[in-house]
Amino acid sequence: MRELITNKGYRSLDQVNQFGRNFDPCQRAWVEVSPASIEKNAISLKRLLGDGCGLMAVVKADGYGHGAETVSRAAIRGGSTSLGVATLQEGIDLRQSGLDVPILLLGNLTKEEDLRACLHWNLMPTISSLKEAFLCHNLADGTGRAFKVQLKFDTGMTRLGCAFEEASKLEDGISQLRNLNLRGIYSHLALADCDSPNEIGSVTSIQKKRFEEVFSLISLKNNEYSWHLSNSAGTLISRDLHYNMVRVGLALYGYNPLNKVKCKLELESALSVKARVTLVRDVKSGVGVSYGHSFITSRPSRLAIIGIGYADGVSRALSGKIGALFNGIFLPQVGAITMDQLIVDATDCPEISEGSIVTMLGQDGDKCITPLHWSDASGSIPWEVLCGFKHRLPRVVI
Ligand SMILES: Cc1ncc(COP(=O)(O)O)c(C=O)c1O
Repeated sequence: MRELITNKGYRSLDQVNQFGRNFDPCQRAWVEVSPASIEKNAISLKRLLGDGCGLMAVVKADGYGHGAETVSRAAIRGGSTSLGVATLQEGIDLRQSGLDVPILLLGNLTKEEDLRACLHWNLMPTISSLKEAFLCHNLADGTGRAFKVQLKFDTGMTRLGCAFEEASKLEDGISQLRNLNLRGIYSHLALADCDSPNEIGSVTSIQKKRFEEVFSLISLKNNEYSWHLSNSAGTLISRDLHYNMVRVGLALYGYNPLNKVKCKLELESALSVKARVTLVRDVKSGVGVSYGHSFITSRPSRLAIIGIGYADGVSRALSGKIGALFNGIFLPQVGAITMDQLIVDATDCPEISEGSIVTMLGQDGDKCITPLHWSDASGSIPWEVLCGFKHRLPRVVI
């Protein structure tokens, strides 16, 4: 059975129709999500990790566009023991859907009321300074609860985190704060997808060394912390970067983040984007197509109009550089991609008709279009392609 994911959880498509929608929500375009693939990927990733190393599933940005709750449940079935989100609302949504595993907020919070909500919902904020630690400590005072937090060090990403040289001072200060329960210490890699921890002088090797300096300064106090440095790239590239936890996003969704290295795991893509043909047109040679007429037909052509556009997440920068799959045939996309529609050249595919379903991303027969194809074509990255699918596209669990 196909299930449609709504903000309020899951319903079957039939139920949605009974609830007053008397049309197919997948009438023009949709995203299909396979929780089974997420679960398999989590199992494969878990196998790669040493005993005692935890897998945090990074499910921010609505589970990289797949639906955060669906992805979280699948990842937990596959062995993930905690979740990483970016925003307070993302964390609250997961708690409200009944998930009770540890949740780390990878972004930082500065306002008192936000941190209070964090405490209320049992979400772990990331803290980068003693000032933030004090704020959490004060908020927890009198509540009878210790505020679970994680401390982030900057080892070379130059984004969130306290300078790694200040590890000892910071931990000293925090250990005085009785209302704080420090659960983890972490940092984030900047170049793991394109350099190597074993190359002397590489940014990853420097970050690893700095993280281990933090470890040596702090570990004498308490060894129960989670120690984590690696994203997907770090996780796949070397066990030496695993410590006792890794934070995995892209690989969990089935894609290899490593630029030059073949992935050692068999990962399965968990997402396809499908759309319907809304009109088929036969036009003459020499006809300009779509805004700007950047494409002119060079032969009598059959064009198929597809109900998906840049307002759904198919970037305009991809115009003329991608295609759609139908019955295993690649149909080149022609002319400018518009807000709600795009056009493919179906001259060599007479069987296509109105209502036909094409695959914009995903597998069809022996052909596959991946987020990497799109990101290479538009100068982007697969992460951005995945997060770019808007909520206008229903998520259908298959
Ligand atoms: C702090 C942090 N950890 C982990 C991840 C997961 O990265 P990836 O999707 O490359 O596995 C991200 C993603 O942006 C992140 O910001």
